[in-house]
Parts: sequence; structure tokens; C-alpha cells
Amino acid sequence: MSESRKEKNGDERDRRVLELWERLVEVEQRLIPTGLHVFGRAGGERECADLLRMVASFDRPERGARALTDLVAEGLGLGSYEKLLTSRDEEGWKRRERVDAVVRASVATFMREGVERACLRLEEESRVSASESSKVFGLLAEIRERLKTSAELEGLARALRGEYVEPGPGADIVQNPSVLPTGRNTHAVNPYSVPSHTAYARAERVVNTLLERHRAEHGRPPRTMALVLWGLDNIKTQGEGVAQALWLLGVRPVRDALNRVTDVEPIPLEQLGRPRVDVVMTVSGIFRDLFGATMLLLDKAVRRVAELEEPAELNPVRANIEAQAGSGECSREEAAVRVFSNAPGSYGTNVNFMVMDSQWEQAGALGELFVTRKCFAYGRGPDGRSLEGREARGALARALSRVEATYQNIDSFEIGITDVDHYFEYLGGVSNAVESHARVRPAIYLSDSLSREARVRSVEEMVRLETRAKTLNPKWYEGMLSHGFRGVAEIESHVTNTFGWSATTGAVDDWVYTEVARTFVLDAEMLERLSRLNPHSARSLVARLLEAEGRGFWDADAGVIEKLRDAFSDLEDRIEGVA
Ligand code: BEZ
Ligand code: MG
Repeated sequence: MSESRKEKNGDERDRRVLELWERLVEVEQRLIPTGLHVFGRAGGERECADLLRMVASFDRPERGARALTDLVAEGLGLGSYEKLLTSRDEEGWKRRERVDAVVRASVATFMREGVERACLRLEEESRVSASESSKVFGLLAEIRERLKTSAELEGLARALRGEYVEPGPGADIVQNPSVLPTGRNTHAVNPYSVPSHTAYARAERVVNTLLERHRAEHGRPPRTMALVLWGLDNIKTQGEGVAQALWLLGVRPVRDALNRVTDVEPIPLEQLGRPRVDVVMTVSGIFRDLFGATMLLLDKAVRRVAELEEPAELNPVRANIEAQAGSGECSREEAAVRVFSNAPGSYGTNVNFMVMDSQWEQAGALGELFVTRKCFAYGRGPDGRSLEGREARGALARALSRVEATYQNIDSFEIGITDVDHYFEYLGGVSNAVESHARVRPAIYLSDSLSREARVRSVEEMVRLETRAKTLNPKWYEGMLSHGFRGVAEIESHVTNTFGWSATTGAVDDWVYTEVARTFVLDAEMLERLSRLNPHSARSLVARLLEAEGRGFWDADAGVIEKLRDAFSDLEDRIEGVA
């Protein structure tokens, strides 16, 4: 082998090792729930330390506290932590690991010995000034105290007695520690304040990353995207999902004297520096109920962009509407509808139920159900009157037929895409519908809008990450199993939600099912534990694996299938014996 070839192979190997390392660190750094929340009971110390470390890795301007990671990186003379996060070379990764280890150790010191010792140790070992670190640890001490006190039982009892329950903000602890103590009512946001200045600023970064990722994979940014918008998420982030839609269209919110967002204004193309993106928005029933004014704003944004006399390749919104109206398929007004939700008073896509009950045959049936449930138009008609959820199946089908990428903003550290069935019913559902109507599978993306690097992942990457960090991770499943019956049901539910991604998008690798089978069924001891704790969920898990193979989602070994069938029939006998 020539020297230069050897060198090339060496570089390639280094690149792969680095990539692997990056993945491992990513799994390691995820906040992994170690069991279920028990109503009225505070979590354990280890969980508390994980949570506090996460809280400490973000700036808290409201407390004048800087992120501990940044303070440590600077104290150690390693420069900006932000830079280390985006660094792709070995040196950068090593530095980042060093910072993370110091932060981990200092949070552990804080847990054992309190604020003062933690500050002192950081000052001695990493030259972080105690005046800075005490602000962070002071906040952590308050959170820790509030985590110990739970007002949940008291809050429930009050509510049942018809008494007043004090409200607090709705979010997760990392996003907004003032959600604590738990056990309070949740208050929403003023819909006219959405999107907030912060949400709009953060959204720009995520949207740029998203478009860049598509460009890297497909040679150019997408011309048309379908977005999923949820109500609670937009409450928690003060409208980050909404702000992302506005950035994609290339418009900015206009605020009145009371700081209410009442209008939008197109950003000139030379300022935007890229083509606009046409967006189809499928919003949840909760979003529709909470954000009526925002739906009108989004509709207005689309129509405003459609009026701009710009070249077709830079303004696909206008181009798509013109093309459709010009072909006589529908009126110009109909061609401009982009905000869809359920019929008034109805919620959800039901795609999750169709999957869980195995009630579909053809590949596109799930997407068709999504369209049936979500084809109600919101916004204003030509006479300026609200459309109020008029049925517009043709309009949604036509809009989806042009979509090249689908996307949902993930804004929680606590809930991932296989924890609940709602992510696959929405993002999976709309992607499946696009595949039928556009006759090509869209690129499917999710963002970790809270991660400091504004990460964007494909659905395939996200399923792999969730599988490694949770479903197959002993820390996660042992935490679940400590809850007995319910814990087994949670494991089964993760497998079914993963299966939901296969059903709607085909995004699940074979190894995922193979490893699930190996971990929970082929391991006789584990299968016995599951069967003893909850034979019904154990049977459902085995049945779901067999269904994955039967539907062609998993190319399994014949020997493995044989063993799964045996396990299934043993569980049947066991359940009948118990009954
Ligand atoms: C929402 O907040 O819009 C939502 C919550 C749960 C499931 C689906 C949507
Ligand atoms: Mg639910």
C-alpha cells in the first residue's frame, strides 16, 4: 500500500473513531429518566444530580448566573465552551470532556458538601471565581430544596374540594426552574405575546441549521416543508415552533404599542440571504384552541409572502399558489391555505390508535387517516371572514403533494419521540401522508431546540438515539422495572412507539428490533422477570416484535422468530392459567 493511501486510510479511521466517540458522548449526556414519577413523592439523589447538572449548563440571565460549563471552560483557559460544542476535532472533544468532568465533579461536591465547598473547590482547581459560581450553586440549592417538597397531594386534595390551586408556569425544570414546586395549576401564555423575542431569536439558529442540513444531504434547501405545531410546546417555549414557521417563510413579527404581535412583515430577500420556504402547518387541536390569533397570524404571513413579486425560485410560496391557481385546480384563495387542524371540537390524528390496534393494511392508510382528521382549514377567506375549520381535504392533499421535508420542534428534555405515541401519530402521520401524495418519502427532521448547539436530527438518528439512551439502556429499563407492573407496561409502550415509527416512516433499523428481542425476550431471566411482573405487557411486547417481522419492518433471523413464537405461546398459557 502506498504511503499516501495509508495516510488516507488512517485519516478515514480517525474520522470514524471520532464520529463513534461523538455518538457515545451524545448518549451519555442525555438526561435519562431513571424510573417513573410517583405522585406526591420526590425523586432520588442521583436523578436530582443529573437534573441539576443539566440546569447548570445553561445561562440563567434572570438570576445573573452564567452556565457552569462556560465558567469552567474559561477558568481552565480552554476558551469558549460554545466553540468546544461545535468543534469536530479530537482536541476540541478532549477539552469538552475535561470541562464536562469538572462540572460533573463540582455538582457531586455540591450534592455532598453544599454550596461553599463546591465554589471553593472550583476556585482552587479550575480558577472559577466564587462570586460567579455561587450564583449557579445558589440557584441549584434552591431547586434542590424545592424538589424535596412536593405539593402534589395537597394540590390534588384542594382541587377535589373545589378550592383554589395556585398556578405556576408550564415547562420542564431545565427550561424554567420556576415550575417548581410541582402540584400547582399551570398557567398558559398570552397568545398575543407569541412568539416572544427570545423564541424568535432562538428559532433563527434552528432554522438555519435545519436548512443547512437539508442542503448538505439533498444539494439544496427544501422548497416546501410540512411542520407540526403543538399547543403545550408553544406555551413552554413562548412560541418557538411558531417562530420557526415565520423564519422559514422569511417574515418577522410586528408588535404594537402593548408588545402584542398583531402583524408580520416580510424580510427582504437580500437581508434573508436565502430563498423563502413554503410551509404547510398541521396544528394540534390544543394549539387551535389556545392560539386562535396565532393561526390567523400564520395564515397572514403566508398570504403576505404570496403577494411579493419575487422570482419563483426564491419565493416558492407565490410560485406554488400561482401554479395551482393557474392550472385551474382550485381558486387562488384555496391554493393559499396553509394552516390545518382538526374539525372544531375534535382532537388528535387517531393514527396512534390505528397502529396500536394493528388496524391497517396498505402502507398509505395511516397518512390517509391523518389527512381525514387534519384537513380542516383555518385562517381567513377572501371576504376577510374566518374559515373556522372548514373542511378542505383537497387543499391539504395538494399542499402535501409538494412537500420535500417534514419537521417538528422538540422542546423537552423529559419526553422523547418513543416515550409517547403522539410524536409518531403527528410527525409520522404527516410524513406518511406526504409519501402518498408527493409519491416520494420526505426527509424527516426533528430539532433539539434546547440543546445549546441547536441540533437537528433525522428521524432515523433520533430513533437510534432514543433506543440506545432509553429502551436498551439498563439504567432506564431497570429504573422502570423497579416500578413492577407499570414499568413493564412502559417498556412495552416504548417498543410499540418505536414500531409506530416503522409503520409511519420506515425509520427503524433492523438492529433495533434484534436488540430489543435479545434484551427482553431471548434472555430467559429477563423474560421471566417481565412475565412475573406483568405477563400481559410481556405478551404484547413479544406480539409487537412478531408483527414487526410480519409486516416486513424487521428482517429477523428465522431462529429468533421461532423463539419469539415459543415465548408468545408460553405467555398465553401463563395468562390463561392465571385467569
Ligand atoms: C399539544 O400540546 O398540542 C399536544 C399535546 C399532547 C399530544 C398532542 C398535542
Ligand atoms: Mg396521551
